[in-house]
Amino acid sequence: MNAAKVPRHVAIVMDGNGRWARLRHRPRSFGHNAGRKAVREVIEGCLRQGVEALTLFAFSSENWQRPEEEVGALMQLFLRALDKEVEELHGHGVRLRFIGELAAFDEALQRRIRAAMARTAGNAKLQLNIAVNYGGRWDVVQAARRAATAVARGELRAEDIDEATLGRWMCLGELPPLDLFIRTGGESRVSNFLLWQLAYAELYFTDTLWPDFDQACLARAIEDYARRERRYGRTGEQVAQA
Ligand code: IPE
Ligand code: IPE
Ligand code: MG
Repeated sequence: MNAAKVPRHVAIVMDGNGRWARLRHRPRSFGHNAGRKAVREVIEGCLRQGVEALTLFAFSSENWQRPEEEVGALMQLFLRALDKEVEELHGHGVRLRFIGELAAFDEALQRRIRAAMARTAGNAKLQLNIAVNYGGRWDVVQAARRAATAVARGELRAEDIDEATLGRWMCLGELPPLDLFIRTGGESRVSNFLLWQLAYAELYFTDTLWPDFDQACLARAIEDYARRERRYGRTGEQVAQA
């Protein structure tokens, strides 16, 4: 693939674990566990193809509404995954970040999260962002709050707040803009993922359930992306001349 056509930043809504498990007459947690393999596949695929940043939606601010047993199983899964995978990711030059309202998690999980971020902070091969207790609207709110605090402290004038200022305070503001948004599991919705960051991302929806998503599926999404013409409001003729 022409390197210029590889998205610099890919985000994925990893959906369909529950249905994948139901098809096998197994509990939903079985599907979540199976999803770990797909996570490894996309990380490997991104490293191979030279994607710079990968942002994965693992738990939304709305997912707390699920049955207690499922939420508990997901938390256990996150803990186990952090214990097991961080060293390997570090070995591959992956920098881990977690975005979302982390204070809602129990102390053990928060400690693991902080340790994983600190351990990998010097890596630059792939920026891997895991969105947990994340909501796109929460992200806008926390950026607005930071702007308001800066104004209150006299560090910023309200009239100087523009898209660039606020954009820097949004989660992932320091990373390349989001190029490709992928959602597995057949639903065509954003479900409160990266609202601000999606402004000019290319959207790709697939019926493949998350545990079945592999490097070949990622490659297909990237090929599809490479065929798109990104116009950013201009005409096709203007884009062709540029
Ligand atoms: C996505 O799979 C994983 C999380 C939301 C944590 P789901 O659990 O939503 O799977 P479906 O959509 O019910 O199949
Ligand atoms: C979105 O999936 C959240 C994650 C994949 C973490 P959901 O399964 O929660 O989304 P809805 O409820 O179908 O919109
Ligand atoms: Mg779902």
